[in-house]
Amino acid sequence: MQTIPLGVSSLSSSRLAYGCWRVAGSWNPAEVTAQSRAEGARAILAAFEAGFTLFDTADIYCHGESERVLGESLKAASGMRERVVVATKGGIRPAGDPTADAPSRYDFSAPHLIGACERSLKRLGIETIDLYMLHRPDYLADPEEIARAFSELKAGGKVRWFGVSNFRPMLVTALQAACLMPLVVHQIEISLARLDAFTDGTLDQCLIERITPMAWSPLAAGLLGAGAKRLLPAQESYRPEKFLPALDAVAKARGASRTTVALALLLNHPSKILPAIGSTNPERIRQAATAVDLRLTREEWYRLLIAARGEPLP
Ligand SMILES: NC(=O)c1ccc[n+]([C@@H]2O[C@H](COP(=O)([O-])OP(=O)(O)OC[C@H]3O[C@@H](n4cnc5c(N)ncnc54)[C@H](OP(=O)(O)O)[C@@H]3O)[C@@H](O)[C@H]2O)c1
Repeated sequence: MQTIPLGVSSLSSSRLAYGCWRVAGSWNPAEVTAQSRAEGARAILAAFEAGFTLFDTADIYCHGESERVLGESLKAASGMRERVVVATKGGIRPAGDPTADAPSRYDFSAPHLIGACERSLKRLGIETIDLYMLHRPDYLADPEEIARAFSELKAGGKVRWFGVSNFRPMLVTALQAACLMPLVVHQIEISLARLDAFTDGTLDQCLIERITPMAWSPLAAGLLGAGAKRLLPAQESYRPEKFLPALDAVAKARGASRTTVALALLLNHPSKILPAIGSTNPERIRQAATAVDLRLTREEWYRLLIAARGEPLP
């Protein structure tokens, strides 16, 4: 697969990334079985064999099970660790931690970030995380304190490069101003069902600062494909029916699948959006990789945008 550099870092990634959110087979660790883990590991291997070289996970995905399945896959597939970028995220604390009545919340304090990163390293079974991202903005985020945590993690050889996820552009600016090291990736939800990043300054900032935008749920968690198994609460209100006919029309005209066109729309943006796909089906993973070669015309691109907006441009 073609590759792109990640921001100004020395890392490069395949043009599509593989997201490991779903690889444990459940959100709930109590429901994870040997079979669901084996299926997740098969999906990771299928992605590696299809040329994916960036694997994204997070400490909270199935309470660490996703990181464990990825870590086991890295060990099982000979040469994989050396050839891929391992990306994970921290900064969200689940309910019940550290006391039973603690709410689920965000925590970018230095002790939490450093401890969370060390626990991720253990679950992944690796010495260094290539890309560590702050998962969702902490309302109490203190850029100076985060910068100190980043410096300590880098100096200790625990993290190579840093990024953020779901940030407002101004918070990226505030954090970058405090940090010695460049932020190289901003992971954010972008799809035909979620267009905000195109107009809220996120992608403009990525262009200015040379940050790679990584799109999560690029197929709207399956709503742009054969349907969704598990949606996040905010995704429940998506209404893809209004634009799926336009997507299908472009797909038919180009002899491509609906999902290939939906991914190509993101790949064709000048900010070099890096879609992180989350299918656990090896055939769908291989098919997604074909989107890299699909160049949409301006007319096709705008036809899809306008259909997804649900109203003409002003
Ligand atoms: N930073 C954040 O806050 C955040 C939040 C959510 C996710 N993420 C990251 O983004 C990654 C991707 O998110 P996602 O899993 O929602 O991505 P996605 O690629 O939009 O959705 C994947 C889901 O769509 C289903 N699907 C249905 N038809 C499909 C088709 N034709 N082709 C492909 N998939 C189809 C898949 O089912 P099958 O498995 O049966 O194919 C799977 O359940 C995650 O793994 C995670 O790394 C980040």
